[in-house]
Amino acid sequence: MSELHQGATTAYPEGRVPHPARGVLSGEIDAFVRDAILPIAPALSAGKGPHPKDVVAAAGEAGLAGILTPREYGGAGGSHVDFVEFIEAVAQADASAAVILDVHLSVGTEPILLFGNDDQKSRYLPRLASGEWLAGFALTEAAGGSDAAALITRAVKVDSGYRLSGSKAFITSAGAADLYVVMARTGDGTDGISAFLVEAAWRGVKGGTLLRKMGLHGSWTGELVLDDVHVPAANRLGDEGEGFRVAMAALDSGRVGISAQATGIAQGALHAAVAAARRRRATGREVDEVSIADLEVNTVASRLLTRHVASMVDAGERVTLDASIAKLYATDACVAVAHAAVEICSPDSAAETHPAAVRLRDAKACQIYEGTNQIQRVVIARELLR
Ligand code: CAA
Repeated sequence: MSELHQGATTAYPEGRVPHPARGVLSGEIDAFVRDAILPIAPALSAGKGPHPKDVVAAAGEAGLAGILTPREYGGAGGSHVDFVEFIEAVAQADASAAVILDVHLSVGTEPILLFGNDDQKSRYLPRLASGEWLAGFALTEAAGGSDAAALITRAVKVDSGYRLSGSKAFITSAGAADLYVVMARTGDGTDGISAFLVEAAWRGVKGGTLLRKMGLHGSWTGELVLDDVHVPAANRLGDEGEGFRVAMAALDSGRVGISAQATGIAQGALHAAVAAARRRRATGREVDEVSIADLEVNTVASRLLTRHVASMVDAGERVTLDASIAKLYATDACVAVAHAAVEICSPDSAAETHPAAVRLRDAKACQIYEGTNQIQRVVIARELLR
């Protein structure tokens, strides 16, 4: 078993369970991580793993590619607490698989659950929930960056629908996904943005250049080019002009998923640090107990905060403020935990494939995507001051 595999097992002494409470899908989740993710984790983290579609197909076989999707559409009918338990467990084993699945389940599928009509739900949810199709979310553009409302991709109304032209940047699963939730401009200002369901197979939809990232090598991140793509009117998601609200609502719960991913990465790094400290102590050498304790506190606090906000989503509460708090805290914590784990595991952690080194490289992106942590602070302050 490789070191990366070892990083996915629990750091806890027997009898001490890291999850505060396991949901009804915990059996399926554990089996999926053990049978489908752990065997491919070393290849994924090296960027030599299976195609992102294979990851979602495996989740589909395990009945987990539609955790939030109601059973009538082929999903598991689970809760957001189940969803974060799933993403954390996958991230503990491999963070690339976690972000592929997180984007598929949250910002890729949830807008259809929240804003889709019956026709859109029947056409797309079963394919996404079975893992036959992989979903993506296309909001960001190079020029606007964090200022999402500055997007310039145009959706020009034609008789039968719209024609979309523009280029999206930093899109997870770009070129791999089968269906994208795309935000494009139908008018001026924030109220001039509309959301569309765009199939990858349509003429003019192209995956552009992929980014070579510092971590998360198993997930694809890149451009999505829309070259005069005809989108039928039946594929506008929500009302015309409602697209920014669709995107922001999706990101509210999406950010809870990233908090879960960060918690899983932190747990993986913590495990590596504890294992190294135990080996060190076994040979009679000093161990930095204070650092080990801090890693545990940060990881457990991230998990509890994430579960709490997920339960707020399940209760139908607006979580704009709380999701930003969880995302900010958990992703800062995972970088700190992974960084400390690299120090505790040194000099072995200087190796590229060491579990702490992999976690540190994977952790950084969590502070950047689904809204940078500077943007989370903007959201938190605005919510408090309004
Ligand atoms: N829920 C519902 N509606 C919302 C909302 C929310 N959370 N936030 C805003 N809105 C709506 C409101 O109707 C608001 O209008 P009102 O004036 O009536 O309140 C309207 O949108 C405009 O809101 P703002 O004035 O707050 O808009 P803004 O232009 O100032 O933007 C921002 C605010 C929070 C900075 C936003 O641009 C933002 O979130 N930026 C970050 C973008 C981001 O997170 N990108 C992630 C990309 S996806 C990704 O990363 C996935 C991946 O690959 C892992």
